[in-house]
Amino acid sequence: MTRPLAFLGFLFLGLASGRFVVEKNSLMVTSPEGMRGRHDSAIGNFGVPQYGGSMAGAVVYPDKNSGACEEFPEPGSFKSKPGALPNFLLIDRGECLFAKKVWNAQNAGASAVLVVDDTNEALITMDLPKEDEEAAKYIQNITIPSALIDKKFGEQLKEAVKSGGMVNVNLDWREAVPHPDERVEYELWTNSNDECGPKCDILMEFIKDFKGAAQILEKGGYSQFTPHYITWFCPHAFILSKQCKSQCINHGRYCAPDPEQDFSIGYEGKDVVTENLRELCVFRVANESKRPWVWWDYATDFHIRCPMKEKKYNKECADTVIKSLAGLDIKKIDQCMGDPNDDSDHPVLKQEQDTQVGKGSRGDVTILPTFIVNNRQYRGKLEKKAVLKAICAGFEETTEPAACLSDDIETNGCLNDNGGCWQDKASNITACKDTFRGRVCECPLFNGVQFKGDGYNKCEAIGPGRCRIENGGCWQDTQNGHTFSACQETEDNKCRCPPGFKGDGIKGCEDIDECKEKTACQCPDCSCKDTWGGYECTCSGDLLYIKEHDTCISKSAKVANATWTAVWAILIALASAGVGAYTVYKYRLRSYMDSEIRAIMAQYMPLDRQNEVPSHTHEEENFSRA
Ligand SMILES: *[C@@H]1O[C@H](CO)[C@@H](O)[C@H](O)[C@H]1NC(C)=O
Ligand SMILES: *[C@@H]1O[C@H](CO)[C@@H](O)[C@H](O)[C@H]1NC(C)=O
Ligand SMILES: *[C@@H]1O[C@H](CO)[C@@H](O)[C@H](O)[C@H]1NC(C)=O
Repeated sequence: MTRPLAFLGFLFLGLASGRFVVEKNSLMVTSPEGMRGRHDSAIGNFGVPQYGGSMAGAVVYPDKNSGACEEFPEPGSFKSKPGALPNFLLIDRGECLFAKKVWNAQNAGASAVLVVDDTNEALITMDLPKEDEEAAKYIQNITIPSALIDKKFGEQLKEAVKSGGMVNVNLDWREAVPHPDERVEYELWTNSNDECGPKCDILMEFIKDFKGAAQILEKGGYSQFTPHYITWFCPHAFILSKQCKSQCINHGRYCAPDPEQDFSIGYEGKDVVTENLRELCVFRVANESKRPWVWWDYATDFHIRCPMKEKKYNKECADTVIKSLAGLDIKKIDQCMGDPNDDSDHPVLKQEQDTQVGKGSRGDVTILPTFIVNNRQYRGKLEKKAVLKAICAGFEETTEPAACLSDDIETNGCLNDNGGCWQDKASNITACKDTFRGRVCECPLFNGVQFKGDGYNKCEAIGPGRCRIENGGCWQDTQNGHTFSACQETEDNKCRCPPGFKGDGIKGCEDIDECKEKTACQCPDCSCKDTWGGYECTCSGDLLYIKEHDTCISKSAKVANATWTAVWAILIALASAGVGAYTVYKYRLRSYMDSEIRAIMAQYMPLDRQNEVPSHTHEEENFSRA
């Protein structure tokens, strides 16, 4: 048993008998007269069913490509004329994926699709194809509803269309979700595994996207949400096998398939069961403290902060997430999780396995993800708008909360403990943002300065302007009107003490006593005096101190004579070059002459003061005396 897929066969769903319920909507023929009546149709498990609503349309049956397995040659050829009823494309079952037929029909302009079954049987659910790469690309883009109708009824519709009459129908989803009272109960069967391909990606994207709406509904008392997790069990004979040991906890009672389907590498099935159990316990503990909506924050934050890819899918990372969320008692959660090595039933997981079996109108849960509203399985794509429609269809008319009518509502998720996001209390800068997706932790753009980091533990001002924010977290001090700062707006974002100081640049920078440390002003004629951030050096007698060379020279030094001659030669040459060249000369003179010449020249002729002031760039500013 070494082939990866084979050992998945060891795991069994804890179900007595599989029972899958086909979710239906109703289809009413309104014309021709002779065909009037109500029929059932089965809601397709992709696209966007109009839960709570209805849709009228004219039935069209294509002459060619009646199975819609090929693209229709003219895009939009089934688009209805302005003012006319939208077109419902009637399509034959068979030869290609249901999803492909609906995709082709959508591209040809159809507003809905009715697939005619090709055998006489009870209605079936048109499901998503599994692991089809081509289909994965378009499935999320299907936005029209689809329904399967039985063969006999389908043939009647085709006849009616072929005979040239107008065939009008009304697709109705108003009774697809029962709405017995003013609160909607819904469940999501989910999984914490983030490495199972497109299906997991769609699920996680949905949870992140839906969080805001879910939290509003829950906080307003409009809904009661319960998350669920499917587990498998290991048949008794295999409990001691390597496969079951790596995929199960509680002696084979609760298992999950290995994420990589290879139990020699990466995470094991039991890591997934353990994290799933933690999410269940997070929900239990949050629910007990009357804040069940915290589960949404935990599930999204765990996915963002503790992905398998970064090898952070573990207890340690989970605990940091738990600690960041207000109202989650980590001890209670650990208690709820218990010991994975116990040879006994786990109260929470046992209950989950029992719940997997369908009850009443709800079928068994066998596929992930499964969304259940008022005990009916949701069909259609797992996407915020579509799912919200289904939930909202679960309210009695006129009792819908505002979230059902508009999706632009903020959730106020930052009010409580800053939503568990990073925050700088001193400067009142936060990474918490209220959006209609619920609160997100994202490093902010503040006063034009970009912050970067994970948004939870750390955000740092990066790049230009960063020294404007709390001096970039670096040391800064002012004495006698002089300010020095260790903040630099360079790429590496580091704090460095300015020249004349030493230290780490963060906690502090200390003045260097250049005189004591003998780093400057060491010539025999020099006398040294330390200042804050620098030093003053004077020479005895008539001598002039040259800082760059740390030496004293005579004001009438011979060294300058030769250079003087050269300078005058240049001056004469340039003077004849005209007025335009004078500017160039001043510039070049300034850059060519080294500072000792300038120091001497300053004694004899007034240098242009403006040229003497160094033009500070922004980065330099913090090094110089302000
Ligand atoms: C699906 O939609 C997305 C964005 O709306 C688009 O980028 C992508 O190309 C579409 N895929 C197909 C197969 O049309
Ligand atoms: C959550 O709490 C409510 C009451 O506050 C309770 O009715 C419900 O059963 C709880 N759910 C779970 C899964 O414990
Ligand atoms: C921080 O900002 C919030 C809202 O913008 C305000 O209510 C609060 O008083 C501010 N706190 C400080 C310390 O500035």
